[in-house]
Amino acid sequence: MNKSSRENWGSRLGFVLAIAGSAIGLGNVWKFPYITGINGGGAFVLVYLLCVMLCGLPIMLCELAIGRHTGKNPVDAFKALQLRRSRLADIIAALLLVSAILLGWTGHPGFGVTAGLIALAVFRWQFAAVGAFSIIAALLILSYYSVIGGWIIEYTRLAFSGRLNVNDVEGASQIFSGFISSPRRVIICHLIFLGLAGAMIWAGIRNGIERWSKILMPMLFVLLLAVILRSVTLPGAPDGIEFFLSPDFSKLTASSWLEALGHSFYTLSLGMAISITYGSYLKKDENIFTSALMVIGVDTMAALLAGLAIFPAVFAMGFEPGAGPSLIFKVLPATFNRMPGGIGWFWAGLFFLMLTIAALTSAASLFECGVTLLLDKFKMRRALAVVLIYVLVGGFGLLSCVSIVDWSNIEWLRQLVVSTFNPSVMPGDWFTLLDRVTSNWMIPLAGLLTALFTGWVWSVKRAARELRQGARNICDNNLITFLSGLNGDKLYLTSRNHGLTVMSAWGILIRYLTPLIVLLVFLKAIGVNVGF
Ligand code: PHE
Repeated sequence: MNKSSRENWGSRLGFVLAIAGSAIGLGNVWKFPYITGINGGGAFVLVYLLCVMLCGLPIMLCELAIGRHTGKNPVDAFKALQLRRSRLADIIAALLLVSAILLGWTGHPGFGVTAGLIALAVFRWQFAAVGAFSIIAALLILSYYSVIGGWIIEYTRLAFSGRLNVNDVEGASQIFSGFISSPRRVIICHLIFLGLAGAMIWAGIRNGIERWSKILMPMLFVLLLAVILRSVTLPGAPDGIEFFLSPDFSKLTASSWLEALGHSFYTLSLGMAISITYGSYLKKDENIFTSALMVIGVDTMAALLAGLAIFPAVFAMGFEPGAGPSLIFKVLPATFNRMPGGIGWFWAGLFFLMLTIAALTSAASLFECGVTLLLDKFKMRRALAVVLIYVLVGGFGLLSCVSIVDWSNIEWLRQLVVSTFNPSVMPGDWFTLLDRVTSNWMIPLAGLLTALFTGWVWSVKRAARELRQGARNICDNNLITFLSGLNGDKLYLTSRNHGLTVMSAWGILIRYLTPLIVLLVFLKAIGVNVGF
C-alpha cells in the first residue's frame, strides 16, 4: 500500500481517542493507583509527571513523527528513514554481541543466544530490527493481556448475574481460584476477548478503531464517574483519598523513580510500535504535539480517576489496598458487595464493564500492530490478516491460560526455560514471566533505540520538519519569550539571540537526556548495579 492510498483517521478527536484508548488500560486501574499510594501519593504523581515530560512525551513524539512521515508499518518505517548504513546500529550490534558472549560465558546460554540473534538482526537490518522487535513485543503482550481481558469479561457476567456476592476477601479468593483453575472457562473467555478486540479493528481505521473508540471512550469515563460518585460518598471514604493522594515526600525513593518511569512507558503504550502504527494513519495537517499532550492528559486523568473510584470504597469497607489481580479480582468484589443499599452487584458490574472497555481498546491497538505489518508486507486483505493474528496470538495465549497459578500444566516449558536461560529467579508462572520480559526488557529497550534512532540517525532536523507540519508555530515558540511575557515584542524577537524552544528542548532530550535516563533504568531493571 503506498502513502496516498493509505487510510486516514477521520478526525482529530477520533485519533486522540483511539490512542488514548490504547493508553488507558489495566495499567491505569490496577497499577497506577497502588504505586501512587505506597510511594508518597501526590509527591509520586509529581515524579510521574516529570518522567512523562522527560521521557514519555519525547518518545511518543518520535514514534508519531516516524509513523506519519513514512506512512508505513513499523518495520518499513525504520527502513525508509535509514538512508545508509548507520555506525550507531553497528555499535549497538557490537555491544549486543559482547553481552551475548558474556552471558553465554557466565552460564546463561539462552540469554546469550537471544542477545546474539538480536545482534545479528541489528547488524543485518539495522534499525528496521527495532520495528520488528517492537511488533514481537506487542504480540507477546497481547497474548497475556487478552487472558486477563477474558477474566474481566467473565467477572462482568458474574457481577451482573449476582454471582459475585461475597463479603470477604477469602470468599472472593475462592471464586477466583475456582475460575482460574478451570482452564476450559479461562480459554473460552480469552478467545472471546481476543475476538472482540479483533472485531474492533475488522473494519479498518476509520470504520473500525476510530468508530469504536468514539463510542467506547466516553462510555468508559461515564462509568468511571458513576463508580467514583458512589465510592467517595461512602462514610469513611476520606481515608482512601488520603492514602491515595496526600503527598509524603519522605516515601519517595530511588525505586519510586524507577517505578514511575517504567510505568510511564507502559501506560502510554510506548516501545510497542503503537504510536508508529497509529501515526502512520495521520494526516499531515494534524498537530502531533498538541495531540500527544492531550493523550497524556487524558491518560493521567483516567489513572487518577481510577484511584478515586477504588480506594475510597476499599477503605470505607474496611479492606487493605493492593495491586494487580488480587486487587481487582479479590478485594474489589468483596468491597462492592459490602456497599450499602443492597445493589453492590450493580456497582461491581459497572466497574467490570468499565474495565472491559479499557482493556479492549488497548488490546485492539496491540492487534493492529501485527495487522498493519501483514497488510503492507503481504498485501493481504484486512480480514485475512485479522484472522491470522487471531489464530497466532490466540494459540500462543493458551500457554498463559493454563499456567496462571503455577507451572504444573506446562512443566515442560518451565524445564525448557530453566535449562536454556538459567534464570536467577523464576516467577511462579509463564504468564508473569512473559509480563516481566516484555515490560522490563523489551519495552524500555525499544524505547531507548527509538529515541537514539530519531536523535542520531534520522536526525532531529528532519524529525522536527515532520513535527512542525500542522503544528503552526507552537514548536518554535521561544519558551523564554513566552514565559517572560515578551511574546510579540518586536525588538526582542528581532534580536539574534536564540532561545529555548519546544523543538530545541525536544532535540536535547531525545539526543541525550531521555536515552540516558532510559538506559539507567533499563540496566537497573535487569539487575545491573548502576549506583542507585
Ligand atoms: N497502556 C496500557 C495500560 O495502561 C497497556 C498497554 C500496553 C496497552 C501496551 C497496549 C500496549 O494498561
